Amino acid sequence: MTRITVNVDGVSCTDEVEPRMLLVHYLREVVGKVGTVVGCDTSNCGACTVHLDGRSVKSCNVLAVQADGHDVTTIEGLSSNGELHPMQAAFHENHALQCGYCTPGMIMQAVDLVTENPNPSEEEIRVGLEGNLCRCTGYHNIVKAVAAAAGSMSSERTEAR
Ligand code: FES
Ligand code: FES
Repeated sequence: MTRITVNVDGVSCTDEVEPRMLLVHYLREVVGKVGTVVGCDTSNCGACTVHLDGRSVKSCNVLAVQADGHDVTTIEGLSSNGELHPMQAAFHENHALQCGYCTPGMIMQAVDLVTENPNPSEEEIRVGLEGNLCRCTGYHNIVKAVAAAAGSMSSERTEAR
C-alpha cells in the first residue's frame, strides 16, 4: 500500500491505496465522490472526467498515486456558495441531459474547453467534446448549453474587471 495525499474539492485527503488503484475508484470508493461515474473503464466514454490541477483528465486513465500532491476537482466541487457553476446552470436551462449518466464528465470537459477557448464555435465545441460520449445522443442541446455557458462565463469575466 502507498500513502497519498490529494486535495479533493478543496479538502485534503490522506489515504493508503494500492499502487494499481485507478483515480476514479479512489474518488468513488475511498473519498465518496460518487458524482464521478464509470461508463467504460477503458478511457473511451469520458463519464469519469475530473480536473487534475485544473485540466480535464479521464480519471479511469490515471492512477490514484499519480494524483498524490495534486488538486482534483470533481463535479461535486464545481458549485460555490450553493450556486451552480454557469456550466451546470446552462445544462439545466438547455435541457442538456436525458438519463444524466454522461453529464458529470461532459460538464467537467466543457468547463476545461471554455477555460481554454472562451468563445468557441459550434464546431470547436463538438471537437472539444469528442472524447465524451452520450448514449442518449443528446448532443444538440449539450452543444447549445456549452455555447450559452461560454457567453455567461465571458460576461462574468467582463463584469469582474
Ligand atoms: S469510465 Fe473513464 S472514459 Fe469511460
Ligand atoms: S444523457 Fe444519457 S448518456 Fe448522456
